Amino acid sequence: MQNIMVIKQNKNDVEIKDVKPYFEYDNITIYKDDILKISAIPHNSIDLIVTSPPYNVDIHYNSHVDNLTYNDYLEFTKKWIKKCFELAKDDGRFCLNIPLDKNKGGQQSVCADITKIAKDIGWKYHSTIIWNEGNISRRTAWGSFMSASAPYVITPVEVILILYKKNWKKTSGSKKSDITKKEFMDWTNGIWSFSGESKKRVGHPAPFPIELPRRCIKLFSYVGDTVLDPFLGSGTTLIATYLNKRKGIGVDIDKEYCDLAIKRLKQEAQINQNNFNF
Ligand SMILES: C[S@@+](CC[C@H](N)C(=O)[O-])C[C@H]1O[C@@H](n2cnc3c(N)ncnc32)[C@H](O)[C@@H]1O
Repeated sequence: MQNIMVIKQNKNDVEIKDVKPYFEYDNITIYKDDILKISAIPHNSIDLIVTSPPYNVDIHYNSHVDNLTYNDYLEFTKKWIKKCFELAKDDGRFCLNIPLDKNKGGQQSVCADITKIAKDIGWKYHSTIIWNEGNISRRTAWGSFMSASAPYVITPVEVILILYKKNWKKTSGSKKSDITKKEFMDWTNGIWSFSGESKKRVGHPAPFPIELPRRCIKLFSYVGDTVLDPFLGSGTTLIATYLNKRKGIGVDIDKEYCDLAIKRLKQEAQINQNNFNF
């Protein structure tokens, strides 16, 4: 009974929502749920959000359609960014990995548009980190090759947008930072260069490398803080939270990806396989 929450919307209307985690072990919690609908995570409880949402570039996810119209994509974006705003503490931070722009299916200023949406919702802007993946193999179209008629310019980087809810200065948490002098000096230079993750190695269509959440976690959170990834995918963020002694909460709509995240936590974070609470 302790995992069932009863929500009364009015006198005659009672909705019963199962809020049991899909997986729980030590400081790790995974929910197999829709981030737009989940009610299990309390409001004002999250210190840091690190995530990479679907990019709407027609990736074949198991349980998510990734080729919406751009307007519908921005509507979906509004909804989940608003949900994250509600879940964050007042000094909560948000590291959002998104494309700078997109070319496939028509050019769009994705980073600029999502930044505006987040600010309209109430998130405050801190900075933008450029992630140079060194990925030049994506280049497929030149437009009018060697002619000024209609050339295509493609910028092969992604960004990590850094936002905060109300106060940039952290007042909650353990006050314990575990970042080294070199890491601090290197990572506060907002051009980050490291390779992307292999889909094949991980078994997910769009994973990010662990270096991305690792840097965000060590730079922007204290030891013991609660970190949320609302689009958990293959579980990369939770591997980073576990290895860096933070509490990690992950949400993914797809059961297979939740199972993959658990498998990777066992293999790459050596979580104790005999002690699971399914
Ligand atoms: C870009 S991938 C995240 C990859 C992750 N960073 C990793 O390293 O594996 C986006 C994920 O969002 C999930 N997703 C899509 N819509 C969702 C929703 N409404 N609620 C929760 N998860 C969702 C997809 O199933 C997919 O695994």
